[in-house]
Amino acid sequence: DDLDSLEDRPPVLTIMGHVDHGKTTLLDYIRKSKVAASEAGGITQGIGAYKVQVPIDGKLQPCVFLDTPGHEAFGAMRARGARVTDIAIIVVAADDGIRPQTNEAIAHAKAAGVPIVIAINKIDKDGANPERVMQELGSTGLMPEAWGGDIPVVQISALKGENVDDLLETVMLIAELQELKANPHRSAKGTVIEAGLHKSKGPVITFIVQNGTLKRGDIVVCGEAFGKVRALFDDKGNRIDESGPSIPVQVIGLNNVPIAGDEFEVVGSLDVAREKAELCAEL
Ligand code: GTP
Ligand code: NA
Ligand code: MG
Repeated sequence: DDLDSLEDRPPVLTIMGHVDHGKTTLLDYIRKSKVAASEAGGITQGIGAYKVQVPIDGKLQPCVFLDTPGHEAFGAMRARGARVTDIAIIVVAADDGIRPQTNEAIAHAKAAGVPIVIAINKIDKDGANPERVMQELGSTGLMPEAWGGDIPVVQISALKGENVDDLLETVMLIAELQELKANPHRSAKGTVIEAGLHKSKGPVITFIVQNGTLKRGDIVVCGEAFGKVRALFDDKGNRIDESGPSIPVQVIGLNNVPIAGDEFEVVGSLDVAREKAELCAEL
């Protein structure tokens, strides 16, 4: 892409951490929603992708959050979330400290080469010991800024909303330094976040567009799956005509369910799409 066609794009921010440390509650507070309470068994089982306007210095800034599950069974989703993100927000419960999936999330973020921000959560609870979490972080090699290291750590209560604005400011400041850009005028490319088979709609795929703009009528190839985009839906389920860089979108019209983590691209014709999908199937 020539530099002239690049435009600012919203940051993609992935929330990761051990099971029940408060990831969805944090996002609920930010989104003013109540997803956590409605989850079966209180356990997140898929990746949620949401566009949010966050107030920074009195101005609303768009950003995209990915909520990942903390249950140990869902390591692949954490890895995927880390791969498509610009910044990893790692939530650590102040009454529980660093646990196996905290370490796993840290490893995914490091492997993806993305900056890490730590949110020490549940500071409102009896038994919360944020100092101990700081020490654990230090011995994991993530030295908090407050102790002379380079890892931003914000102590929050996701439940009460305490210091969540500080966390958002910290994250958005890092995003600003990243000077995130994409070219919304080219054909779309991106990654499959989630994919499944719906009874009447057929394959339903959540993409995150990483460059370009995905439009209704585009021909998409994605691993062994391909097809013409029949309809697009935003994160609130509204029908939309197109979706630009960083923005999650649900798509129907493909012939198959691709594998989450697969990359997609828009191509010129169904013949080209079929050829590419067949090539992929042979590999
Ligand atoms: P998984 O997605 O299943 O890994 O869990 P999660 O990290 O999304 O945690 P979730 O938001 O589901 O919260 C787990 C429990 O912790 C819920 O009962 C929340 O109400 C509670 N919780 C989350 N944040 C806080 C907090 O800041 N303070 C207190 N006291 N409880 C919290
Ligand atoms: Na939970
Ligand atoms: Mg959750």
